[in-house]
Amino acid sequence: MDSFIIEGGVPLRGVIEISGSKNAALPILMASIAVDDEVCYDNVPDLRDIHTTIKLLNILGKEASLENGVVRVKNGKLGKEAPYDLVKTMRASVLCLGPLLARLGEAKVSLPGGCAIGARPVDQHLSALEKMGAVFDLENGYIHGHCPDGLRGAHIRFDMPTVGGTENLLMAACLARGETVLENAAREPEIVDLANFLIKCGARIEGQGTTIIRVQGVERLHGCSYTVMPDRIEAGTFLIAAGVTGGRLLLKNCPVSDMSAVVDKLRAAGMVIEETPEGVLACTGEKGLTGVDISTRPHPGFPTDMQAQFMVLMCCAQGSGLVEENIFENRFMHVQELVRMGADIHVTGSSAMVRGGRRLTGAPVMASDLRAGAALVLAGLAAEGETRVQRIYHVDRGYEHLEAKLAAVGARIRRVKEAD
Ligand code: UD1
Repeated sequence: MDSFIIEGGVPLRGVIEISGSKNAALPILMASIAVDDEVCYDNVPDLRDIHTTIKLLNILGKEASLENGVVRVKNGKLGKEAPYDLVKTMRASVLCLGPLLARLGEAKVSLPGGCAIGARPVDQHLSALEKMGAVFDLENGYIHGHCPDGLRGAHIRFDMPTVGGTENLLMAACLARGETVLENAAREPEIVDLANFLIKCGARIEGQGTTIIRVQGVERLHGCSYTVMPDRIEAGTFLIAAGVTGGRLLLKNCPVSDMSAVVDKLRAAGMVIEETPEGVLACTGEKGLTGVDISTRPHPGFPTDMQAQFMVLMCCAQGSGLVEENIFENRFMHVQELVRMGADIHVTGSSAMVRGGRRLTGAPVMASDLRAGAALVLAGLAAEGETRVQRIYHVDRGYEHLEAKLAAVGARIRRVKEAD
């Protein structure tokens, strides 16, 4: 199992190119299941979850491969089963349910288990697909869905704006008979990217990026070439890396227009973030960092995927900041690790009070999930002395070439293999 060894305290300076978005690429790759012809994607990040998705597409009968950021998916005879061994390593595997039902009228997908950041059920996906005519049984840990007469358009209102649920239903609705209306839909930029991909394949979708999405079903989707949007969470993580190390970074290909909530809070905390023709320039302002409060919400609110990293910024700020997590339960697993590095954080229910102004010190720490791992890397970069971040396979799920990108801007970070 790999770990990062980080020698902290170096201000990061230089240019970082933002990679393609993991959370956009996953559903867009899954959408190839619903497409009849060959599809070619570029700006796909080279990440563990992407490799898992490609494996899943191959198991499902597509011919998919990744080379230099380009994924080609060729047609084959579609299978219907997403096995436990893959789904257990990546919850997003459940995104094949909608397109499989739409194409085959049948799908068998292992039920995703619990995960480190809470229960994360898929009830909204299933009840919405039922409204479209699907029938589900739970057999031996698998969700087995059928719709022998095909999916039909329906009026669906989600109980909460679910990103994966909106994506699954969007893919299913493209090939359903008639009109589907998705109300209380999630508005994340990755959903807009998925809709844009589907539209390029011939789908008829309106309202993506708003709470009501309308889809008119079509007979078939045709192939196309598509460029995946840049990763706003990776970009946000690097903005904070500039802040906590007192450095100055230029981020190229940074999707700043999709990052308003994060950029506003970083500015309120004392960072200077400027859009320039070359990219987005970030550093800490003359007055230093000060505590501000955040509260995670569905887009366009502050993203839960930036909560852990923002907490590290608050540890390095003067004053205190209240961090409220409203999307997932159990998403404060990084807190105890940060406390081991000298942070002063008190959790009460879904809120964490961070008292800043203390110098973090290096320590051995353990990543419990992807964004918690990213936060520990940031803390290591800011800390005095050596930090060893263990279980970085979590980080590898979502950050492309993280140590190479950080080392190129001056960080002292290396990957080591450790016996488990
Ligand atoms: C996606 C992102 C993840 C991000 C999250 C919220 C991907 C691959 N993952 O996850 O990085 O943190 O959005 O922005 O894009 N819920 C239910 N029932 C359901 C579905 C969801 O109760 O059927 C709840 C969840 O438990 C959670 C909330 O709704 O509390 C939001 O979850 P959702 O938006 O679906 O997150 P994911 O799509 O799993």
